[in-house]
Amino acid sequence: MRILVTGGAGFIGSHLVDALLAHGHDVAIIDDLSSGTRSNLNAQARFYICDVADTARTEHIFKVERPEAIFHLAAFVSVRKSEEQPSETARVNILGSLNIMRLAHTYGTKRLIVASTGGVMYSDDNLPTSETSPEQPRSPYAISKSSTDAFLEASHQTFGLSYVSLRCGNVYGPRQNPHGEAGVIAIFLEKMLSGKQPVIYGSGEHTRDYVYVDDVVEAYLAALTSDRSGIYNIGTGEETSVNQIFDMLNVHFDHRFEKQHISDAPQEQERSALDASKASRELGWIPKTKIEDGIAATVTWALKNMRPNNNTTSTMSFQTWLSTLFIGKTYRMSQTNKLLESAATQEYQHP
Ligand SMILES: NC(=O)c1ccc[n+]([C@@H]2O[C@H](COP(=O)([O-])OP(=O)(O)OC[C@H]3O[C@@H](n4cnc5c(N)ncnc54)[C@H](O)[C@@H]3O)[C@@H](O)[C@H]2O)c1
Repeated sequence: MRILVTGGAGFIGSHLVDALLAHGHDVAIIDDLSSGTRSNLNAQARFYICDVADTARTEHIFKVERPEAIFHLAAFVSVRKSEEQPSETARVNILGSLNIMRLAHTYGTKRLIVASTGGVMYSDDNLPTSETSPEQPRSPYAISKSSTDAFLEASHQTFGLSYVSLRCGNVYGPRQNPHGEAGVIAIFLEKMLSGKQPVIYGSGEHTRDYVYVDDVVEAYLAALTSDRSGIYNIGTGEETSVNQIFDMLNVHFDHRFEKQHISDAPQEQERSALDASKASRELGWIPKTKIEDGIAATVTWALKNMRPNNNTTSTMSFQTWLSTLFIGKTYRMSQTNKLLESAATQEYQHP
């Protein structure tokens, strides 16, 4: 199947691209590399550096690619920065998503699967929260995701758009960027690898529903093969506190680190856990990875791929760095035409 993945240079999107290629799909990626990286790009996929809200350039790409299915993961992902930049959040997450929905409709895409969020969508009452729980989006980020979900459902009702929106919990695993607004696992892990003391905001007793990236990819694949449309929570239903995460990581460092708390905790939701029984019933999805195992796999990956650094800057492995040099060369020019060349390849930047 011809598949377009927006945000395919990002953490979740790059794992999804790898899985789609492994399943024999033909994959193209749109990403502006604002938080994704070239090192995440799979060289077997065509890559267009492009803003999803750029109506003209994305249209050129659709004319060439004619995707049969789209996974739309590109987003302004930082909850904190969304509070400082609500207009930019709305531009990328709402207008960008509307643009992708418009193009999907115009170019006859059969299936649209969109990344929403569960972690910051609901209140922390009556956990685990189901899709029918009242929405309480507090940040511009959460509001933008909730709005997009409403637009998707409206398009489904009005035009028959075949869609799934996945409201994931806190996704973690290899390749998560520890810098921007990454989850606590990637942030703590990078500190520990650098021999630096991670700090815990507040008591560390606030909880989240941590879901391993491979399980999330399975949910995306299940959404592709299903003919259902709607919103689905993707989580384990279990709450894990920041203190527990710290302990689970610390095991891999011979308990070298002590918990240090700082009091000025940013305002945030106390508890979160998602009821994913609808995804289980209708998509046949269940999370398979226990958090201890997911953390162990993430630590193993990080030990191979993230070199400790005094500046706490993660560095790619030599192999990963080397592979980025060849991404440009594997770009399949034969599949482009003049239209594409003017639309996308001009701005395609070789590493
Ligand atoms: N990581 C999580 O815990 C989590 C939880 C729930 C939902 N999500 C959603 O899943 C999706 C992927 O998140 P992620 O964690 O992989 O983040 P990420 O930052 O690694 O990936 C987002 C990708 O989108 C790209 N992007 C951003 N703005 C763009 C634009 N205007 N045009 C084109 N590309 C753009 C970035 O460069 C990046 O590669 C996002 O939609 C996010 O909101 C993530």
